[in-house]
Amino acid sequence: MKIRSAAYLSSAATALLLVGCGPAAMISTTPLALGGWSKDEAEVIAAFPVRRNAQILDAARERRIADIVAGMTLEQKIGQMAQPSILSITPDEVRQFYIGSVLNGGGGWPQGKKHATAQDWAKLADSYAKASLATDLAVKIPLIWGTDAVHGHNNVVGATTFPHNIGLGAANDPELMQRIGRATARQVRATGINWAFAPTLAVVQNQRWGRSYEGYSSDPTIVASLGGAMVHGLQGNLTGDGDVLASGKHFAGDGGTFQGVDQGENRASLTDYVAIHGAGYYSALDAQAATVMISYNSWARGGTQPHGKMHGNRALITGVLKGRLAFDGLVVSDWNAIEQIPGCERDHCPQAVNAGIDLFMVPENWKTFITQTALDVREGRIPMARIDDAVTRILRVKLRMGLFERPTSAGRYTGDSTALVERELAQEAVRKSAVLLKNNGVLPLSGKKRILVVGAGADSFARQSGGWSLTWQGDETDNKDYPVGETLLGGLRRVYGAANVSYSLDGVGTDPRGYDAVVAVIGETPYAEMKGDVRFPAPLSHSARFPEDRALLDRFAGKGVPVVTVLYSGRTTYATDLLNRSDAFVAGFLPGTEAGAIADLLGGRANLDFSARLSFAWPNTACPTGGEPVAEALLPRGFGLSYRVPFLTGRLTEQAPIASCP
Ligand code: BGC
Ligand code: BGC
Repeated sequence: MKIRSAAYLSSAATALLLVGCGPAAMISTTPLALGGWSKDEAEVIAAFPVRRNAQILDAARERRIADIVAGMTLEQKIGQMAQPSILSITPDEVRQFYIGSVLNGGGGWPQGKKHATAQDWAKLADSYAKASLATDLAVKIPLIWGTDAVHGHNNVVGATTFPHNIGLGAANDPELMQRIGRATARQVRATGINWAFAPTLAVVQNQRWGRSYEGYSSDPTIVASLGGAMVHGLQGNLTGDGDVLASGKHFAGDGGTFQGVDQGENRASLTDYVAIHGAGYYSALDAQAATVMISYNSWARGGTQPHGKMHGNRALITGVLKGRLAFDGLVVSDWNAIEQIPGCERDHCPQAVNAGIDLFMVPENWKTFITQTALDVREGRIPMARIDDAVTRILRVKLRMGLFERPTSAGRYTGDSTALVERELAQEAVRKSAVLLKNNGVLPLSGKKRILVVGAGADSFARQSGGWSLTWQGDETDNKDYPVGETLLGGLRRVYGAANVSYSLDGVGTDPRGYDAVVAVIGETPYAEMKGDVRFPAPLSHSARFPEDRALLDRFAGKGVPVVTVLYSGRTTYATDLLNRSDAFVAGFLPGTEAGAIADLLGGRANLDFSARLSFAWPNTACPTGGEPVAEALLPRGFGLSYRVPFLTGRLTEQAPIASCP
């Protein structure tokens, strides 16, 4: 497998230049143009690059698909277009309603059991798969199951998780990324599942967004390169035992909403929409991503021309994605997202069908979705041709992955819990994604003997994992939910010997004298979409949000014992006061289950050194305005120290604490 990188990117960039002001007439090649485009829509479509290396459709396969579609009733077709949650549908209902796909949301486990084993998962997958083969359809259509394996197979107990994408962006290593994709695909297959809702291709422009950590970088080039590598890794050649479908998400503009509001309004100019927010899709499609998930956000072009919610945006979904970018896979909607389109309900939205969405994530209300959508077709609100296109694309993806030949979930990894464990790869990824921001001579800790560890992050799998970890928000878990892995406290004990490492969570009453170093492991509490935003005007300052971490450093700074701080966070955030109170400072981001590997780096074991570079600027203000202007950067994107190049950081100018941003 080859990773297409720089060469591809420059050709995309060239295509972009060539067609940037191309004539609107070029869009007439768009399939399924249901009527014409407005002048504005035509301009938008023409601004996107024409993708010239789309896969040629296999004629025999397309005939086979057409035959199957021709033999289906309307309700059977719409059943294929529905994606219920496993918590809201039984296998027998899958059979009865000809359901094409199911999903488990964050924290959606078989039978609601958090500790479900690989075999429990695989058993459920098997019963859904078999149910899809037990319909009365002339040609049985096997089902696909999608899951948010966004940093490893993170909903499954005992599965290794990898650093969240913000850390992998700092590692910026496409080859590593691809190996992580391969490993994640095997984990997913171990549970009988065949589709990962990853990679996230958001090009994050504002760290207030609670999903910042799901993005690789604020730099479209890094997102494009790692996103493409991840698709290659997850999908392999799509037909193997260890391959799963990937999903580029969320199309498009999720990372650019005003003030970083989740599901909010992207106000980018057309040029920026194409060059920044589109970037990940050009490479993901070239890597043959089989599916694309639509985003909750809306777009107001240049802040003035409203284009509405993406789920209803026919120009972008049909005109751009399926037309200009020649995407021939399936487009899936996000969780109940269609209800956000004016005039729609969560189970009923002809606009979204007509916009070009093929598969509908209707977790609970899938039954009424089927009846209402069928009525829409019968009453002429949705053309049958659109339904046929949707089912054709769903079948194309299923055929392409060889599902008709191997329709059950049985396979080499299915039910094998050892395939969930990828400790060494995760440790490598952790070491390659931690960024050294400051080191006034204290690191590596090689000569040090007695170490005092403090901070709520030191022995907390929840904090090192962040959101999308066993549960949706990553909360409501404790260390017992993580049977495989290592905290940083565990890692330090392993490296220095348990007898030489003491731990105090808040450090109250602990005298650092007598220790060679204090390692403070601080961090955010876990969060995911919707709940993770730091809403304007709240300051985006770690100490303002977690005053206990500042108090902890105040307790140990300047006491004659060097303080090494490791920060777990899903974003770059104002932390100048914490840097000043530390002799060394590591941005660990959200390392996942193998955070203990940071201990090997701190110790400089076997000549290990820091190599990661910030993939987002580090702010010098608690009130960043978004877009990372130079004046707001304490450290630019690309910054990262290593032991080889000694670098002393003087006292940094701190901002006075503020209660809210102006
Ligand atoms: C998220 C998606 C996710 C889906 C399924 C949505 O709320 O935005 O990223 O894939 O839920 O859990
Ligand atoms: C998430 C799901 C989650 C659900 C919980 C959705 O927005 O995408 O993954 O399970 O909310 O209500």
